[in-house]
Amino acid sequence: MCGIVGFAGTTEAAPILLDGLERLEYRGYDSAGVAVLSEERGLQMKKSKGRLKVLRELTDDGRSMTGHVGIGHTRWATHGEPNDVNSHPHLSQNGLVAVVHNGIIENYLEIKEYLIAKGICFRSETDTEVVAQLLEYYYSNSGDIMSAVYKMLDRIEGAYALGILCVDYPDRFIAARKDAPLLLGYGKDCSFIASDVTAILKHTREVSYMADGEVAVVSSAGIRVFDAMGREIEKERHTVDWDVSAAEKGGYAHFMYKEILEQPEAVRKTMHPRLKDGRVVLDDLKMTAEQIRGFRRLFIVACGSSYHVGVVGKYNLEHLLRVPVEVVLASEFRYADPLVDENCLVIVISQSGETLDSMMALRLAKKLGARVLSIVNVVGSSIARESDDVLYTWAGPEIAVATTKAYSTQMVLLNMLGLYMAELRGTVAPEDYAAVVGGLEALPAQMERVLENTGTIQYLASRYFNHNSVFFIGRNLDYALGLEGSLKLKEISYIHSEAYASGELKHGTISLIEPGTLVIALGTYTPLFDKAMSNVIEVKARGADIVALTTESRRADMEKTAGNVLTVPDAHRLLQPSLGIVPLQLFAYFVALQRGCDIDKPRNLAKSVTVE
Ligand code: M6R
Repeated sequence: MCGIVGFAGTTEAAPILLDGLERLEYRGYDSAGVAVLSEERGLQMKKSKGRLKVLRELTDDGRSMTGHVGIGHTRWATHGEPNDVNSHPHLSQNGLVAVVHNGIIENYLEIKEYLIAKGICFRSETDTEVVAQLLEYYYSNSGDIMSAVYKMLDRIEGAYALGILCVDYPDRFIAARKDAPLLLGYGKDCSFIASDVTAILKHTREVSYMADGEVAVVSSAGIRVFDAMGREIEKERHTVDWDVSAAEKGGYAHFMYKEILEQPEAVRKTMHPRLKDGRVVLDDLKMTAEQIRGFRRLFIVACGSSYHVGVVGKYNLEHLLRVPVEVVLASEFRYADPLVDENCLVIVISQSGETLDSMMALRLAKKLGARVLSIVNVVGSSIARESDDVLYTWAGPEIAVATTKAYSTQMVLLNMLGLYMAELRGTVAPEDYAAVVGGLEALPAQMERVLENTGTIQYLASRYFNHNSVFFIGRNLDYALGLEGSLKLKEISYIHSEAYASGELKHGTISLIEPGTLVIALGTYTPLFDKAMSNVIEVKARGADIVALTTESRRADMEKTAGNVLTVPDAHRLLQPSLGIVPLQLFAYFVALQRGCDIDKPRNLAKSVTVE
């Protein structure tokens, strides 16, 4: 989604803003812009549709703009098509203020009509322009920029992270936040705002996270923060331990490939501090044993791939805990009048910790009295801060839009949570507990083995990359795995792909199978291997091309029917999807590569979906 970066310092702002915006590119965008302020040249602004390199050309890499204070933006269009005019920053009618915005102003039409009636002319179709126009209108009336900002914030409804320049204050800019991520960065003789920390990591690791309703005044001398009532407050500072190089490609053609390869290490880092002497130890939980024993029902709420982790979780947590587990898409949960109360634990899963639907589902769950535990990758993100308990995945920054290492670490952590709770609730036999822990410990090395043998996957990708429809079929955990394999393929290669529970084939889908249809048949869930084989036989009889995925121990059986067989090492059956996903990620990657797709930034997609 949209990315914001702001800088106030003692050096030229534009090159720093452009560099910061480049680091936010991964979030997804269709246009970009920057505005800088200097006493001599006033407010200068450049913006354009398309990639950042266009903006670089327009500004001679930032050199054509002078000023030590500025704001920049990458836009992911919501209101109004992606074009130069709708790009941010947006300027007020008389050019007194410039605004960048992430989020949606829900009552923008009403405000727009009000301002038009006052004689104000609008240039763009965006909701954001009302912020600039309304602010200038109030400022012109009062002459006091801070009271005008508060008045404007009182009037607008919706979600926002805002960066605001005012020509009368060339040494500073203003930031405000409600329901959209924004952090403050403290550098040496300079200060920053950013939608996420990767934009400023090169300059500082010291940050604060803005809370809803807060307003910040940012200058080279420092940052002053005020609460919703205008009272100055002290912000807690955090040191980010992410490595700059982790957010860089480091010689790889794509972040996605690099992140696929990083999975064994990410899983190790997520597991190791929490596995002690054969036990799962979740010191990071505040929940008491008594609370854990008291839950009558669990919900797992998430979007996209994080939801797919939840589908695996439903199977595994119900098995381990013998308690009903519902997995619900956050966008459905929040409007479904869910049967949640104080006897429920709601687990929210989110890589970014900023997905708006997941955030709103979390708030609803809390309002209904449930305890909320989140599994999040980004420290200090909104979801992490608003949850009763947080378990962090230690995947490091994930830049490719298509998630890989975050998915894998979420899954491992959810399984660990299941084990931990099951032990406290007394629903797992000691030998079963030990077997799962042993399986977890073996996973990173097993993943490494899968990553060492990518030749066959590459070959199959080159054979099937021009198919335009693919089906993933599987049962139980293989069905959950298929959901993610299918999403990976479609989001980066743009091939139409669907995942079905194999048992459903005869209830409709099999009519779509014709000679040459590609079916990815998943047979890694060994308790149902024979049933998986029957389904392979069925689709083969209808002429499908089959790529099968199974475990090493079942290769020979699978080869009797399927021509192309990929294998992964045998793991504990609850953990098998952690291995099965790796060849599917690689298959999607190699297919997209063959098709010449923009792998790290697929069309229309954003890394962090901060609007509904
Ligand atoms: O940051 P989150 O985990 O909350 O994001 C949820 C989805 O937007 C995300 O998993 C999305 O589906 C990915 N592009 C999938 O690769």
